[in-house]
Amino acid sequence: MKTDVLIIGAGAAGLMCAITAGQRGRRVLVLDHANKPGKKILMSGGGRCNFTNLGVTPANYLSANPHFAKSALARYAPADFVALVEKHRIAYHEKELGQLFCDDSSKQIVRMLLDECAAAGVRIETGCAVERVRHREGGFSVATGRGELHAGALVVASGGLSIPSMGATGFGYELARQFGHEVRPTRAGLVPLTLSGKHQERYADLAGVALPAEARSGRQSFRSGLLFTHRGVSGPAILQISSYWQPGEELRLDLLPDRDAAAWLPAQRTARPAAELKTVLADLLPKRLAQRLCELDFGNRPMRQYREPELSTIGARLHDWPLVASGTEGYRTAEVTLGGVDTDGLSSSTMQSKLVPGLYFIGEVVDVTGWLGGYNFQWAWASGHAAGEVV
Ligand code: FDA
Repeated sequence: MKTDVLIIGAGAAGLMCAITAGQRGRRVLVLDHANKPGKKILMSGGGRCNFTNLGVTPANYLSANPHFAKSALARYAPADFVALVEKHRIAYHEKELGQLFCDDSSKQIVRMLLDECAAAGVRIETGCAVERVRHREGGFSVATGRGELHAGALVVASGGLSIPSMGATGFGYELARQFGHEVRPTRAGLVPLTLSGKHQERYADLAGVALPAEARSGRQSFRSGLLFTHRGVSGPAILQISSYWQPGEELRLDLLPDRDAAAWLPAQRTARPAAELKTVLADLLPKRLAQRLCELDFGNRPMRQYREPELSTIGARLHDWPLVASGTEGYRTAEVTLGGVDTDGLSSSTMQSKLVPGLYFIGEVVDVTGWLGGYNFQWAWASGHAAGEVV
């Protein structure tokens, strides 16, 4: 059977592109080397797939060109994906901050995409490795484990480097370079941070302690959950800031983001002069953390023994606690890969290569990375849709 459009990668972006192109009557073949499609969708959102975010704006994405994502995001909005979810009668809910999750299972999203593919006449071949790609007059020839395939258009939707055990490869980046595209340096994003040496020793036995906090790096900050782990720190606030943090930079934590500690502490001294500081702090912070902060920095005496300036220094410190991370847990646990195919070489409205007609890059392989909270799937849907409309 003849193929007009060959898509490499049956993930979120590839499947959305296939559906959109298939609905236009294009003959679409999707190849994936994994044993089933949509593996990352299946594992996403703790098994419930945070499939979009109601508050998506271009400002929620990191890219060397912050304008690149605008066109595609504007033309395929969260409401468009929600309409598809509703058409398939998949129950969903807003968890927080506009994040939409399935009530039951991520499997429903994969099922929905595969049903739409089938309805649009899309063929999907899994367990099919791509060995070589060549550009020829009028199209592309792709050598696979199952022989040579030809198509007029080639869409690279092979994702990033995160979670190699799920089939992630650097294939898309190599292909981009092969065709003369620049690839921006890649690194793990939305990833736990590690501590080492004395910085790790300070917090190592706090593993499991969780609290609401604000994590800051440079001018970026995120207020959400913070979790101490055996290797360092995690939780949504840390995952978010990890995409902005650069090795060597100090992180600052606001451990009491909902309080004015400098006002609260003197009030506690008046109300409970005999109570020790660690006991007072444990009213607002996890007990083990309160104790550790006292050991590391504040001392632990009855409140009446702390003078006003000392309490205001402690208050300021609670809102601006320094943390020195040594690195990240890397691609093994990262939700996304920052960097990727340079957007300068792509059309922002169609995702087509400016260098090789008929070649497209969509989804995570492109240098566009979203925040935690459904933004990355929305980019996959939107960029896949943009290419699918023209491919
Ligand atoms: P994706 O990685 O989905 O698909 C790429 C496909 O290409 C894969 O199927 C792979 O097997 C295939 N492939 C790779 N190399 C190949 C080759 N050489 N030949 C053939 N096939 C090849 N985002 C979000 O918005 N909400 C969420 O809840 C989550 N949750 C989440 C949890 C976890 C644990 C992870 C790791 C990630 C998330 N994400 C997320 C991020 C989200 O999963 C990610 O951004 C999208 O899946 C990217 O979609 P793509 O289609 O670009 O790549």
